[in-house]
Amino acid sequence: MKKEVVLSGIRPTGFLHLGNYFGAMRNYVRMQDEFNCYFFVANWHSLTTHPDTKELQNSVHRVIAENIACGLDPAKVALYVQSDVPEIAELYLYLNMLAYKGELEKTTTFKEKVRLQPDNVNAGLLTYPVLMASDILIHRAVKVPVGKDQEQHLEMARNFAERFNYRYGNVFPAPQAFNFGNELIKIMSLDGNGKMSKSENQMNTLYLADDDDLIRKKIMKAKTDSGPAEKNSVKPDYIENIFTLLSLVSDPSTVKKFEDDFNNCIIRYGDLKKQLAEDMVKFIKPIREKAADIQNNKDLLKKIIHQGAEKARASASATLTEVRNAIGMNY
Ligand code: AMP
Ligand code: TRP
Repeated sequence: MKKEVVLSGIRPTGFLHLGNYFGAMRNYVRMQDEFNCYFFVANWHSLTTHPDTKELQNSVHRVIAENIACGLDPAKVALYVQSDVPEIAELYLYLNMLAYKGELEKTTTFKEKVRLQPDNVNAGLLTYPVLMASDILIHRAVKVPVGKDQEQHLEMARNFAERFNYRYGNVFPAPQAFNFGNELIKIMSLDGNGKMSKSENQMNTLYLADDDDLIRKKIMKAKTDSGPAEKNSVKPDYIENIFTLLSLVSDPSTVKKFEDDFNNCIIRYGDLKKQLAEDMVKFIKPIREKAADIQNNKDLLKKIIHQGAEKARASASATLTEVRNAIGMNY
C-alpha cells in the first residue's frame, strides 16, 4: 500500500522552543517510519514578518540541525528549504486567484500581525495562508502535524483545494491537522500570558538552545501563586501549564506525586519547579549538544539540504504537471 503523505514546516524566525518541539517536531519524529514525510524550513514565510535577512541563513541552518537533533532522519524523510522548491511559488500564484480578500483579511494570524507590525502590512502577510496551502498541496499531503495555532490555516488550505478541484478537476486531497492522541497541543508561556513563541517573551519561553542554568532560572521564575485553598480545585492556567510541562518531561510517578499534593493542598510550588527544572535540563541538554555539533558541520548541512531539495522537487514537479494539465496550461 502507498504510504500517506505528511508535510509540515517551521519558520526560521528565531530559536526553536518547547512549543515547537511538543506541538510539531515530536510528531514529525514519530511519523517518519510510517508515512511518506516532507518537512521543510519556511524561509519565504519568514520574509512576511522578518524582512531583514542578516540572521536568516544561520536560522535556517539551526532549524535543520535542531530537527535532526530531535530525531529526524534525513535519509528517511525529505528535509528541505522552501526556497529551494520553486514549484511552490507557481502553485501559490494559481491558488491566489482562488483566494478572496475578505477571507484573508478575516484570518486570526493576519489580524494579529497587523496589530504587531502596523507599518508593514504587506501583501505576503495577507496571502500567508495561500503560500502555506501551496506548501501542503504541492505534495498532495493529507496529514499536517502542527500545533493548535495552525488549525484555521489548515481549514483555509482545505477550502482552496476544494475550490481548485471544483473549478479544474480533482487534483488535491483534503489536508487535515494532525497530532497523536487527537488533541492539538498548546504550550503556554511561563508567565501564563499567551503561547511560547520564537520572538516574544524570551524569558518566559524555553528554547532548545538554552543552557542548563538559563533553563533553571526561567523555570524558577515561572508564575505561581500561594497554592490551592480547597481540595481538588481546578488549576489556574499558569499552574496547569507547569503540570503540562512536567507531564511531558518527567516520569509518571513524579507527576502523580505533585498532582496528589495539589489535590490535598500541600503542594510546594518551589519544589515542583525545582523538579521540573532538573527534568527539563535532562531533556534539553542532549538535543542542544547534538544540534550544535551538526550546525558546526557546514558540509554535512549542505549535503542534507541539497538531498532534501531533490526529493521535494521530484514530488512537487509531478503535482505541478497535473495542476497545469487540469488548468489547461500545457501548450
Ligand atoms: P512557528 O514557530 O510559529 O513557525 O511554529 C512551528 C510549529 O510549532 C507549528 O506547527 C506550530 O503549531 C507549533 N507551535 C509553535 N508554538 C507553539 C506552542 N506554544 N505550543 C504548541 N505548538 C506550537
Ligand atoms: N504557518 C506555520 C507556522 O507559523 C509554518 C508553515 C508554513 C507550515 N507552511 C506550512 C506548517 C505548511 C505546516 C504546513 O507555524
